[in-house]
Amino acid sequence: MKRQFLWGSATASYQCEGAWEEDGKGPSMWDDYFHHVNPNAVSGDVACDFYHHYEEDLQMMQDSHQNTLRLSLSWPRIFPNEDQRVNQRGVEFYHRVLDSMIAKGIEPNVTLYHWDLPAYLQKKGGWLNRETAFAFAQYADFCFREFGSKIRIWVTLNEPYYSTQCMYGSGNYPPNEKSGQKFATAIYHYVLASALAVQKFRQYENIGEIGIVADVHPCYGVDESEACQRAVYLADQLYNGCILDPVLKGHFPQALIEALSTTYDFSFMRQEDEAIIKQGIVDFIGLNYYNRSYIRPYQSGPSMVAHNNAGIRDAKKEDEEVKRVMVVKDLFEKIEDPNGTFTEWDFEIYPQGIYQICMEVTRKYGNVPIYITENGIGLHETLDNGTVHDDARISFVEQHLHYLLQAKADGADIRGYYMWSTMDLYSWMNGNEKRYGLVYVDFKTQKRYPKKSFAWYRDFIDAHQDI
Ligand code: NOJ
Repeated sequence: MKRQFLWGSATASYQCEGAWEEDGKGPSMWDDYFHHVNPNAVSGDVACDFYHHYEEDLQMMQDSHQNTLRLSLSWPRIFPNEDQRVNQRGVEFYHRVLDSMIAKGIEPNVTLYHWDLPAYLQKKGGWLNRETAFAFAQYADFCFREFGSKIRIWVTLNEPYYSTQCMYGSGNYPPNEKSGQKFATAIYHYVLASALAVQKFRQYENIGEIGIVADVHPCYGVDESEACQRAVYLADQLYNGCILDPVLKGHFPQALIEALSTTYDFSFMRQEDEAIIKQGIVDFIGLNYYNRSYIRPYQSGPSMVAHNNAGIRDAKKEDEEVKRVMVVKDLFEKIEDPNGTFTEWDFEIYPQGIYQICMEVTRKYGNVPIYITENGIGLHETLDNGTVHDDARISFVEQHLHYLLQAKADGADIRGYYMWSTMDLYSWMNGNEKRYGLVYVDFKTQKRYPKKSFAWYRDFIDAHQDI
């Protein structure tokens, strides 16, 4: 029987729920960070208060004919303390949300971990500590048992590459460190965690499918030279292969490890983990696509990553020709295409990249089922007569969907598409001002206002039910 294509949108627990300490929830590493380390920054304490507004939000999803929501569970809402006693009120909240979704015909696509690590685990080293991977598997196992009758689509982790880069590469996210060694260690433990959770999942019957969500970055070289092709090859292994290879092939990309092992110590990769990672192969892959990577060979200087959290287009050039966004010493540099189009947060708008990455994944990993688990554009927006005329978002999504449907027609097994985001969410270090939603949220009153894209998406879905 042909499965219905899933058309929906996505959220994440810390970015939408609020209620940071309600009904027995424990602190996550983000709560600790905003309350103790960086108290002047905007936190997600309240966010868009999905905890109290979920009925209204789900109703709006149904009104716009979306048949699926990607959401995540907050680990510290379920296991608030180190004693590992279950917080029943947190569990009941998720049952209420899932029941309401099912009643409305909205298929749950549930991520177990979207960056809100319990604070007690962060204090013990977080993802640098391999014990976190085993703790994650225990938590995942509980969720499979508890929610297994209501969830058919499971995701272990969200964006292991990007979140690690932010925690330990650029230092943009807590614990704000810049260490290639820690960056590599944390990625590895993430992959181990996912594999351990998949192993647990396989013990259940009739519980649906499990995948992982990777941020993907199709890599393009600045020219055709051999040096550039080598740089692109390594950049692709770092940005895409270091997650996609282990979860779809069962091992890490060898060329990348060889290239890095002159600088970093890979002894955290234990032999006993090899079998676990081999058995951790997922059923589908979730791809978050926002932009591409434009690559040239390494030229000079130490490794670095730049971030623009200010929301003011920053085309500042470090050298005479181009702006460098990331340097991996001795391997490659990621630069801005001087002819590219960028958002205010320096994200290049490159719709054809979604085609390229879907086809590459299909080719390299044997026609694996794909969900586009996030795609969208962050904008500064204001209300205008009760709505937002977000033509830029409509145009962005329309162009990406054009290329996505082309990839589907060319053989990629694409099963669903999720716009980021369902409504305006709290956006990590970008606070509340980087808006991605189909629905505008007034964060002071928590009132919701559908944007122009809301009706546009509904009509698009109606016209593409039967694809
Ligand atoms: C990816 C992440 O999963 C999400 O949490 C974030 O807010 C969006 N990208 C937008 O940057």
